[in-house]
Amino acid sequence: MEPTLVDPSPRSIAGRQVGPLAFGHWRFVGGDDAEAEADALIEATLDLGMNLHDTADVYGFDWGGEGMGHAERRLGGVLARHPEWRERMVIATKGGILPGVPYDSSPAYLRMACEDSLSRLGVDHVDVYLVHRPDLLGHPEQVAETLVGLRGAGKIGAIGVSNHTLEQTRALEAFLGEPVAVTQPEFSVAQLAPMRDGIFDHAMAGGTVPMAWSPLAGGRVPKGEGIPAPLVEVLDELAGERGVSRSAMAMAFVLANPARPIAIVGSQNVDRLEDASTAREVALTRADLYRIIEASEGVPLP
Ligand SMILES: NC(=O)c1ccc[n+]([C@@H]2O[C@H](COP(=O)([O-])OP(=O)(O)OC[C@H]3O[C@@H](n4cnc5c(N)ncnc54)[C@H](OP(=O)(O)O)[C@@H]3O)[C@@H](O)[C@H]2O)c1
Repeated sequence: MEPTLVDPSPRSIAGRQVGPLAFGHWRFVGGDDAEAEADALIEATLDLGMNLHDTADVYGFDWGGEGMGHAERRLGGVLARHPEWRERMVIATKGGILPGVPYDSSPAYLRMACEDSLSRLGVDHVDVYLVHRPDLLGHPEQVAETLVGLRGAGKIGAIGVSNHTLEQTRALEAFLGEPVAVTQPEFSVAQLAPMRDGIFDHAMAGGTVPMAWSPLAGGRVPKGEGIPAPLVEVLDELAGERGVSRSAMAMAFVLANPARPIAIVGSQNVDRLEDASTAREVALTRADLYRIIEASEGVPLP
């Protein structure tokens, strides 16, 4: 029997151990009156071992949110009611997207964005701070200096990037003098780019932890919409054999990559978070994984 490649062991970020499934806050924008709902959701994630929480200052513009800072404010409300949860949690937030501009990683703006995030979250520091998208007009030397300054001031723990190309990541690292702790690309059964564009190879070489965003392709995988029909068929066949859902199978695919990504689960539904957790126990062999890759790409590998 071929060994499973799914790796459910904790990942290490800036000296903290985090589960292989994180909780994503992009859609965490329920109304301010839904406090009990927010508390229950966060408590469920912690009980399920999803102790890494991924938010951003810009989360709040989509999904009926009230705009800039809404998701961070909502998490801040949870932490104000349950301060004991802060130490169970590793908080990652992001800055550098400024609706209207659209990107700004200038020193003054990033410093202000980070301070504003801390204030909305009601914390004195975040464990991970990511540049959300590359500022095409920002010089990596200045971005690196700003991030190192924030870290030196104790406002952020680890430094990360999201949606950066390999070369953008390398340029920033050249001025940081060290690899970024975290990189956050889109990665799922329906988005395989980081396996080939150098992002995962570079992460493995430098010890960077990848955080895979939209691991269910934003819901297209469970719905079976907007992804190749042969991919749905292969996922369903494997899921049926292993007795798990199609979503859990897709999450397991993310956890099986040798770069040891963390899957950022986006569901706001406790039953679906529990279902996602079953991905940790799924067995997937090299042969299974190549079947998924070929079905996703629609062409056999040479
Ligand atoms: N860095 C970036 O640029 C970036 C971009 C996008 C996302 N992210 C991060 O990645 C996280 C995850 O992204 P995502 O929310 O797109 O993740 P996802 O897990 O791929 O998709 C979550 C969506 O799928 C739906 N869903 C899950 N199971 C379902 C089912 N069985 N049937 C129907 N719908 C189902 C969820 O709805 P329910 O809530 O109803 O379950 C939710 O709307 C975000 O929260 C954010 O932290 C980062």
